[in-house]
Amino acid sequence: MSDSLPASAPAIPSVPRLGPVNQRRPRRLRRIFALEDLEPAARRLLPRPIFGYVAGAAETNASLIDNRRVFDEIQFLPRMLVNVSGRSLDCEVMGQRYALPFGIAPMGVSALTGYRGDLALAASAYRAGIPMVISAASLIRLEEIARVAPNVWYQAYLSGDREETEALVGRVARAGIETFVITADSAVVPSRENNLRNGYRSPIRPDLALLWNGLTRPSWSVGTFLRTFLRHGTPHFENAGPGRGAPLLSRQAVRDFSGREFLDWDIVRLVRAQWRGRLVIKGLLHPRDVAIARELGADGVILSNHGGRQLDGALSPMRALPAAMGVAGNMAVMIDSGFRRGTDILKAVGLGARFVFIGRPFNYAAALAGEAGVDHVIDLLHAQLRADLGMLGLRRLEEMSKEVLFLENFRHVR
Ligand SMILES: Cc1cc2nc3c(=O)[nH]c(=O)nc-3n(C[C@H](O)[C@H](O)[C@H](O)COP(=O)(O)O)c2cc1C
Repeated sequence: MSDSLPASAPAIPSVPRLGPVNQRRPRRLRRIFALEDLEPAARRLLPRPIFGYVAGAAETNASLIDNRRVFDEIQFLPRMLVNVSGRSLDCEVMGQRYALPFGIAPMGVSALTGYRGDLALAASAYRAGIPMVISAASLIRLEEIARVAPNVWYQAYLSGDREETEALVGRVARAGIETFVITADSAVVPSRENNLRNGYRSPIRPDLALLWNGLTRPSWSVGTFLRTFLRHGTPHFENAGPGRGAPLLSRQAVRDFSGREFLDWDIVRLVRAQWRGRLVIKGLLHPRDVAIARELGADGVILSNHGGRQLDGALSPMRALPAAMGVAGNMAVMIDSGFRRGTDILKAVGLGARFVFIGRPFNYAAALAGEAGVDHVIDLLHAQLRADLGMLGLRRLEEMSKEVLFLENFRHVR
């Protein structure tokens, strides 16, 4: 993988493909005008337990709600009468250039919500010149995803087993993947009562409840669920370790993904010693943790509260960003949780973030319309970012700074 955009990726279009409604766009996308429109559409498509699993968060949704609310505390102070023609949105992250300042966050079981979901996400991201992160809890082999999209990153849920970790790191390197992400915030299983209320169970059991849910959502049942089983057999967790993991419908899957309470910084040291590519720690909020990641030689961190899905009440990562910037040094500070608009992304970039990841909306988009859905979301964000940058009186992302932000109402870690 080179340090520039992939050769086969198209040139970054200077005018986003928006304009009048594209007649060839799948019907399910015709009324998707912004990322917020995806959730109600996905609710109509997906069986209730599966939609609830994606949309839901932990306990009272305090973090989920604050992830959105924080953006209202930051306003813009734009500059006027600046020539903003010829704007560009490309950016550099850890020595790599990307066409746009956002990527697709790792999400488990994306091939259950959308047919071959991980491949749709990765292929579309690659075409657009942005990264997609393969989840450790994904159902399609990482080697297959990396063949379709050589610029993918890999996210690990590490086991405490040294040999297994070394073998996994070797497997990811052999697949040609250059960025290894360790998720740090999921060592303990959270309380997601909403899964219980919605009837989401892992492992999924082929019982009457599943049959009923399937009957109420026939389009997903035939187009995703049955099509997957008939064409590819029972999906397995393919990327949690060095070899094939448990099947989706087994109890073993629960054991593999619950409880990694032994995880600590020693495992990061171990991976850093072996992994020669870029190393990123995801799920940090505390500035001292960001400082440790830097001391241990991480190339980047992703500030995140897991989209509000882990510790309920954990700070919105936007509130942690200013303090993290103070200790990050040369490390790339990236961020996710609650980003839905170009303005959200620009607020983070103005505070120093290099890059933003977005989760749920991409999951819904792949479920609704596969690659076309993911393309559409990228186009929407691209159009918003391009317009917003121009209205701020800026031509390049590098010009985005606190200068054009009004921060008096912004409550954050100091
Ligand atoms: C359905 C779903 C599955 C997820 N699976 C993973 C995962 O396997 N690994 C991980 O590090 N984060 C996982 N996340 C968290 C995302 O990577 C990301 O932090 C979060 O979705 C960002 O918030 P947003 O959805 O509000 O954009 C998952 C999120 C969702 C919604």
